[in-house]
Amino acid sequence: MKHDVIETNIGLMIILTIVALSFGTLVELLPLMFAKETHEPIAGLKPLAALELEGRDIYIREGCSTCHSQMIRPLRAETERYGHYSVAGEFVYNHPFLWGSKRTGPDLARVGKRYSDDWHRAHLYNPRDVVPESNMPGFTWLFDADINGDMTGRKMAGLRKVGVPYSDEDIAGAGAVVDGKKEIDALVAYLQQLGTLLQSRR
Ligand code: HEC
Repeated sequence: MKHDVIETNIGLMIILTIVALSFGTLVELLPLMFAKETHEPIAGLKPLAALELEGRDIYIREGCSTCHSQMIRPLRAETERYGHYSVAGEFVYNHPFLWGSKRTGPDLARVGKRYSDDWHRAHLYNPRDVVPESNMPGFTWLFDADINGDMTGRKMAGLRKVGVPYSDEDIAGAGAVVDGKKEIDALVAYLQQLGTLLQSRR
């Protein structure tokens, strides 16, 4: 029996198992690598402006993604609540992705333009001033902290190396754009552009 040869030879068994698993992996991965919509930006997608980029770094530093996801699943309950489900082409300039997996608070993938800048500032200062039942912490220090623009251009240059299409002018002018701004300005600018290219909740 041919099968005995495999079942009594652990070396051969390991090799054939690896071949079988690799085949399964390839079948899953290869089509995704070649499907245009997984790595082509959606229409109108632009790299984050200098201030928004600094805001994103503050979002990461403050751990907002420990309570907020940025990924709307294609399920009715989610699209009714948040708007159009997330598509791969929205994230091609995100390094790293901030999809998150924990929703202590709502998903933020399409929060851009849902509230005014003033609402966000009040909310981030003390969430309970605008949402009485909120258990989100306040981030009061963002209102005093200045943004240091020394690194902004270099961050953009780094992102350009991994494919984000910043121009030389974007990079050269970045520091001047963010200098003099507070961290709260950057964070709100970042939030206000989130997901605005596709339809939000009506
Ligand atoms: C400890 C968990 C927690 C952390 C950390 C947290 N949030 Fe929240 N967030 C919540 C909860 C809960 C709500 C829902 C109640 C409310 O609106 O305040 C919320 C609501 C929000 C909303 C309103 C969303 C909507 O659609 O109404 C925004 C915007 C937001 N958070 C931004 C942030 C940002 C930016 C940070 C990081 C600076 C952050 N959150 C950190 C828990 C958190």
